[in-house]
Amino acid sequence: MTNDSAPITTHVNDRILRIGIARPEKRNALTMAMYDALSAALEAAEQDQQVRVILLHGTASCFTSGNDLSDFAKHPPQGENSPVFRFLRTISQTTKPLLAMVSGPAVGIGTTLLLHCDLAYADETARFQLPFVNLGLCPEAASSYLLPRRIGPQRATEMLLLGEMVDAATALEYGLINQLFDSATLENQVLAKAARLAAQPPESVRLTKSLLKAQHIPFIADIMRKEGELFLQQLAKPEAQEAINAFLQGRKADFSPFS
Ligand code: COA
Repeated sequence: MTNDSAPITTHVNDRILRIGIARPEKRNALTMAMYDALSAALEAAEQDQQVRVILLHGTASCFTSGNDLSDFAKHPPQGENSPVFRFLRTISQTTKPLLAMVSGPAVGIGTTLLLHCDLAYADETARFQLPFVNLGLCPEAASSYLLPRRIGPQRATEMLLLGEMVDAATALEYGLINQLFDSATLENQVLAKAARLAAQPPESVRLTKSLLKAQHIPFIADIMRKEGELFLQQLAKPEAQEAINAFLQGRKADFSPFS
């Protein structure tokens, strides 16, 4: 099924819900309408007894380039109930197992959402980047807390401060993803993992997921809220305006005037 108002696809088969980000002409950049559609799909999956496993994916050459910077500039998020923050809360609270399948770039929220997935698989074309500082912004999705715990503080600092692309092999070494498959077999391999998970006893799967997350749950909502406030403050400031305008104008950002 395709959502008419946003290029997000949903499809249930054999108890696996596939949620696809399908806007390849804009490298699957996420608009407010798309965040709303993603939240709606996750919320519906929670209630749907036919769904045991959720698989999030992009298109063949791109997972997602993250927030749509043009949408961001025109309609900046207004507060914690903005579609992007609502989506982050929803994905962090999803009780059913979440898998991600990554090909091509996974930028910004494309990488931070993996911290809320239970299993993440990629092919050799996958690239991961957290360019929040490059954009004059700051981390979101509780990544300032979860990322150092996942990949280690030095690597997290490097990814967040330098904002460079990390290739698939490095992401595997960092533990950002579970396994790498070649692009010809990625989809079948991931579907086989999803099918295996869907055949497991569902209550036990959900319980185990919740126990694995229990240690962090008390902090996630507060950290997301704090990051969100700072993110919005930064978004209104000249550093972010310069970075976003530079991207939209296809030029290199100039941060030399700022102190
Ligand atoms: N927001 C809005 N538009 C975006 C976008 C984004 N995040 N990412 C890509 N696009 C658009 C480009 O403007 C371009 O549009 P056009 O064809 O109308 O000019 C189109 O998608 C293709 O992008 P392009 O940069 O040519 O693709 P690429 O394959 O060379 O590079 C990326 C892919 C993802 C590496 C690159 O597009 C990129 O860095 N995007 C910005 C990522 C970002 O900063 N995200 C925000 C994180 S908070």
